[in-house]
Amino acid sequence: MQQAIRILSLVLVVFLGLLWGAAWLGRAPGEGVGEAFSRQFARLMGGDAPAPSAGGVQLPQGVSLGGPFAMTDHTGRAVTEADFAGRFLLVYFGFTFCPDVCPTELGTIAAALDAMEQAGERVTPVFVTVDPERDTVEAMADYVARFHPRMVGLTGTPQQVAAIARAYRVFYSKVQRPEMTQYLVDHSSFIYLVGPDGRVRSLFRPETSPEAIAQAVRAQLRGA
Ligand code: NI
Repeated sequence: MQQAIRILSLVLVVFLGLLWGAAWLGRAPGEGVGEAFSRQFARLMGGDAPAPSAGGVQLPQGVSLGGPFAMTDHTGRAVTEADFAGRFLLVYFGFTFCPDVCPTELGTIAAALDAMEQAGERVTPVFVTVDPERDTVEAMADYVARFHPRMVGLTGTPQQVAAIARAYRVFYSKVQRPEMTQYLVDHSSFIYLVGPDGRVRSLFRPETSPEAIAQAVRAQLRGA
């Protein structure tokens, strides 16, 4: 019996070690090993769809992200994709309690719009929460105003958030660290450029510079 337990725990340790190694090798740029590990673990357990592996600017052929959704904006108004039809959007998924990555990426979106000057007015920045429990309409209103005067915050029921995250293949999962009183939410961290038809035109990896995003968006606006 003792021996069986010892063998079983050895197998478990080796398995977790291999998974950790795989996470280390397969992590996306800007993604921590811990994040990659939980993403792979969730995938193994049949959790949410993995984050899109497409990087750079263009989506691979045949991949379609985005589409219909129903959410509540930061003014408390019920909105769908129809409210944004005909506009370009820069969309980011995160949560207002996020200590570092979300503020950085939202700052990048704001800086990209500023860098585009006039043309930037054709693009609406959108922040979608993956933490609807804490990110109420009021919390979203307060948060988006810190980044850009035109930024729209979207929250909703957990089901609505799950649906829009699925449409964009966004991974998110609650994490409770023992040393913290508040939980965190691990989440994939791409910036999406959405076209006037509500479909994702391209996505940007974390830590893409505002200038690179501005340049890519300008090219799309010229083609529109
Ligand atoms: Ni974040």
